Amino acid sequence: MARDRTLSREVWKNQLGFILASVGSAIGLGNIWRFSYMTYENGGGAFLIPYFFALFTVGIPLMILEFCLGHKFVASAPLAFAKLNRRFEWVGWWSVTFVMFGIVLYYSVIISWCLNYLLLSLTLAWGEDPGNYFFKTFLNISQGPEEIGTVQNPILLGLAVIWFLNWIIVHRGIQRGIEIANKIFMPLLLLLTCILVFWSITLEGANIGLRAYLNPDFSVLSKPKVWIDAFTQIFFSLSLGFGIMIAYASYLPERANLSRNAFITALLNCGFSVFSGLAVFSILGYMSVEMQKPISEVVTQSIGLAFVAYPTALSLLPGGAIFGVLFFGSLVVAGLSSSVSIIEAFSSAAVDKFPWNRKRIVTCISILGMLGGTIFTTNGGLFWLDIVDHFITHFGLITVGILQAVLVSWFFPVETLRKHINTVSDLKLGLWWSFLIQYFVPFILLVITGTNLFNEFQKPYEGYSVLSLVFIGLNWLIVTILVALFFSRSKWENQADLQ
Ligand code: PFF
Repeated sequence: MARDRTLSREVWKNQLGFILASVGSAIGLGNIWRFSYMTYENGGGAFLIPYFFALFTVGIPLMILEFCLGHKFVASAPLAFAKLNRRFEWVGWWSVTFVMFGIVLYYSVIISWCLNYLLLSLTLAWGEDPGNYFFKTFLNISQGPEEIGTVQNPILLGLAVIWFLNWIIVHRGIQRGIEIANKIFMPLLLLLTCILVFWSITLEGANIGLRAYLNPDFSVLSKPKVWIDAFTQIFFSLSLGFGIMIAYASYLPERANLSRNAFITALLNCGFSVFSGLAVFSILGYMSVEMQKPISEVVTQSIGLAFVAYPTALSLLPGGAIFGVLFFGSLVVAGLSSSVSIIEAFSSAAVDKFPWNRKRIVTCISILGMLGGTIFTTNGGLFWLDIVDHFITHFGLITVGILQAVLVSWFFPVETLRKHINTVSDLKLGLWWSFLIQYFVPFILLVITGTNLFNEFQKPYEGYSVLSLVFIGLNWLIVTILVALFFSRSKWENQADLQ
């Protein structure tokens, strides 16, 4: 039975607030620096075929499922799983724990880099050699993960600012904190991105970049890797398996239009990715003309794109300083709206189970988050970040996705969930949804995990020593499982909540 919403929980002020918060969680660093590179590397415009296929067959169905779990049970991830079956509660704890004490720890450090680079853009402080500046001066990177070294003060300071912002937003609660923040962040992000896109497509050489980005090469569609990349990108990008969408949906009112909101959230997220890719590739095109190098030599992904390639382009561009402020500003905004979402997911899980005060929990986990993140601000931090990210996203998130689909649909009448969705939504779901959740989603995610495991045993990830992979990456997963088991074994303060 569902608890009385109005008595036990805050609710979103309106549906728009909920959609903007969900979109805010979904749109993050991954959309800006990962999506466009994935597209380029996997056949340009042709990649959009597997990408949208993954969106409609796995992304949206799972998002509807997560919205449904949160809404039907009026619960965060652990409570929702506990209500399905008390033995499944640990799955909910595991997801919110490894995201809170894994992904967010290093994600906030990357937002701190962006904040630093926003300021550094003003003077184009990286000079002639942005690569050298980033790795040697800014990160002062050590020889490997074994050599931790000392903390880099500007990064630590930026991290403190980010955690302060995280704290202040989540501490103010759903309506006055997260909802208001996203109502400011999302239009701001759209504005910044529009300026970046319209500015960059007018640059000389932009067409070269855009052609590289979107020109379809359909021959790649026969490669399994392209399809796996598309599914993985959708999964991370929609914040699935994080426990976030479950928590956010638990704050919805009785009539909530779950299915329509999932479609809107997912499509806005993916539309944003394609759109911001126009800015990323136009600039790379401009750079290739200016530096007289083929586009393939200037294209890179993730941190290489944001902190090396982009700064190089900014130094060439008239008005580069302003462009830099806009670009790094948009990364900070996109990052913050994602990081607050997981802090909320973890705090609501703790509030559901323990008789603790919400504000105190938020303060505690913000302090812990800040302290835990410090390891990633050291000279060895980049290596740690890379290893932890690899293990959590490749094995943690996808495993939770599989467990979620399997446990929900094989040990619980999935039709009950579909009925709930159809009762509260005006967009009705057919049997296709149950089929996808019961068979297709677990199958695809199992194939991805199998492939990831196979690759893992082929050769150690990125040439790191097996010892550091096990010690840092695998241990991170194991420790978070143990913490999850500990939380799930402890007693429910309010047994009535489990009914
Ligand atoms: N969907 C986010 C992105 O694409 O960047 C992923 C994310 C990361 C969400 C970290 C939340 C979070 F705390």
